[in-house]
Parts: sequence; structure tokens; C-alpha cells
Amino acid sequence: MKKINIALLGMGRIGKIHFMNIKQYFPSATITAVADPVSDESLHQQYKNVFFTNDPYEAIKRDDVDAVLICTPTSSHADLIEEAIRQRKHIFCEKPMDLSLERTEALTEMAATSKVKLMIGFNRRFDPDFMQAYRSVREGKIGNVQIVKITSRDPGLPPLDYIRNSGGLFMDMAIHDFDMARYLMNKEVVEVFAKGLVVIDPAVAEAGDVDTAITTLTFEDGSYAVIDNSRKAVYGYDQRLEIFGSGGMIQVDNNLHNRNVLYNESGIHQALPLDFFMDRYSRSYLKEMELFIQALTLNSPMPATGSDAIQATIIAAAAKLSMETGSPVKLEEIKRSGVLV
Ligand SMILES: NC(=O)c1ccc[n+]([C@@H]2O[C@H](COP(=O)([O-])OP(=O)(O)OC[C@H]3O[C@@H](n4cnc5c(N)ncnc54)[C@H](O)[C@@H]3O)[C@@H](O)[C@H]2O)c1
Repeated sequence: MKKINIALLGMGRIGKIHFMNIKQYFPSATITAVADPVSDESLHQQYKNVFFTNDPYEAIKRDDVDAVLICTPTSSHADLIEEAIRQRKHIFCEKPMDLSLERTEALTEMAATSKVKLMIGFNRRFDPDFMQAYRSVREGKIGNVQIVKITSRDPGLPPLDYIRNSGGLFMDMAIHDFDMARYLMNKEVVEVFAKGLVVIDPAVAEAGDVDTAITTLTFEDGSYAVIDNSRKAVYGYDQRLEIFGSGGMIQVDNNLHNRNVLYNESGIHQALPLDFFMDRYSRSYLKEMELFIQALTLNSPMPATGSDAIQATIIAAAAKLSMETGSPVKLEEIKRSGVLV
């Protein structure tokens, strides 16, 4: 079977994870090119068979590239997606696809028309614990789902420059949780009510964002999801989930550094949660790449698509508008206005 040749665009935090995973675990795929404006001589020396360039457009065009992984800063995703579609290269793009709903829709349409496969990096769907929760819900083990609660807190603020260019907490961070809520419920959101504020560092407000938020999603059948986000939990990366239904409840707790529970006279002690996304979601990054490569090899549908990106983007835009206006926002309002975030 022909190997899938991949160009990786953006060798930063997330790009390096995908690079190492493909190198180590997927013999049916090869990284033939890497593009990043910042050169890393040690990588060039170590991976002599890989073509390194500072120009992502040069990498996309190459004949030995069937697919691209877009792991560059968010503001560059849309132009790179567009070029990859023009060059008929399949695409894995990190979230969010773009900050503009209009462009997210246009590119999704363009990929479909050009028969280019497009997967979005909503990796949390592929975390083994969350996948099990999804299966249990589908198998009816907790009856009709009424409430989903997602806790999603980072261990610390990202650099302010990152915040300034991220699209804001809802588009950059909570978008994962919006996707998870839709995915677990298997239903569409109709209304969003969000509140957000700055309690961690006033510099976040100067960068035009909030660092703490609560969002309530109402689904088409009247069920709810409640999502709480913070950019700083002093005890580590806090990623928990609870799904409550007519027949029971599913809880997914944090993954800790170890499973020891120490009891002594001062209390009961446990290790802290894993530090950040690279550790906590390491298995989800592997699984999503496995599914991306599999969909290319078998010519089957992608498991998280441009349509999912559109829905999550609409929810994020509604959350921001709701926070700004202090009122619930119907998703229809966002769709009608084609709002730019
Ligand atoms: N799915 C997840 O869990 C997850 C986690 C982190 C980041 N992300 C997303 O991945 C993207 C990258 O985030 P990151 O944290 O890795 O950022 P980063 O800043 O660590 O890395 C970005 C890299 O892209 C390079 N770059 C910049 N412009 C480029 C261009 N035009 N062409 C090629 N390379 C370019 C930079 O030099 C840098 O090496 C963002 O969209 C972010 O939202 C997703």
C-alpha cells in the first residue's frame, strides 16, 4: 500500500507532537517536508531525509506531499488551507480552523467541492476516557442525557502575545469544550449564555480577553451543557467531565501523575493532575493521527470535519456576543449575521 506523504507546517508545541508521533508510530505515513520560518539546525541534522523550508507554500506544492498538517498560529490557517485545497492536498488543521465564520464555511465548502479531505484537530474526542464515555452514552447506559458538565482549566496563562492573536478564550480554549459537548450529546446547540471576566492578571484585559468564563449551552431538545474555563488552576491542568442522564451518571476525572493514594495523620494525599495538554492528551493526539491517516488510506470520511469546526465557531462567536451583551444568544442570530469574531 502506498505510504501517505505528509508536509508538516509549523514546528511549535503541537507540531512537534504530531511530528514525533508520525515518526514513531505510523509506518504507513512519512513526513517528507517541514515548514517553519524558524529554522532548527539540530532537526535538519537529525532528519536528513526530510525537506526543511521556511516557506509553507513551498512545502504544500511539492510532488512528494499528499497531505498537510497545519500546526501554525491560528491567523495563518485559512490561507494555508486554501492553498492546500488548490494543490489538491488533503488537510489536517489544528483548531480553530479560522476566526471568521464566513471563511470557515467557505473553505469547508471549497474542500468538499474539490474532493479534498479535511480534518480538524478536535483531539479531545479521541481521548480514551472520553471515547468510552461517548460509547456508554450511545449504548444508553445512562438513559437520556440531561446535563453535561465540563471543567477545562489550564495550569497557567499563555504568553500575552499568544492571547492577543488567539481569537480569545472562547475561540481558542473553550472551542474544544464546545466541540466535546456537541459530540457527547450528539445534538445541536440552539442557545448560548456566557459570562467571562479577568481575575488572574489585568494584562489579559489589556490584551483584549478574559481569563475565566462560564458558558451554558442549550441543546435542541432543551438539555444543557455547563462549561467552566480558567486560564490558571494552581494545581495543574484540570480536565474533568460529568454526564448526567435519566438512568445514571458518567464521571471522567483528571489523569494524575500517579495513582497512589497516601493516607497518614495529616490527611489523604494524591498526586497532582498531569501538567498540560502535551501529557494529558498524548493518547488523543496519537489516536487522531491514526484516524487521519486511516481515512486517507481507506478513502473513508474524516472523524472531525469542517462542519464540526463551523458549529464550534458559531458557538464560540455566540459565547463572546453573550458575554458582551449580558444576554443569551440564539445560534440563529450568529448564522444570520455571519458574525466575524
Ligand atoms: N489541539 C490542541 O490541543 C492544541 C494545542 C495547542 C495548540 N493548538 C493549536 O495549534 C496551533 C499552533 O499552536 P502552538 O501552541 O503549537 O503554537 P507555537 O507558537 O508553539 O507554534 C507555532 C509554530 O508555527 C511557526 N509558524 C509561524 N508562522 C508560520 C507559517 N506561516 N508557516 C509555517 N510555520 C509557521 C512558528 O515559528 C512556530 O514554530 C494554534 O492554532 C493552536 O490553537 C492546538
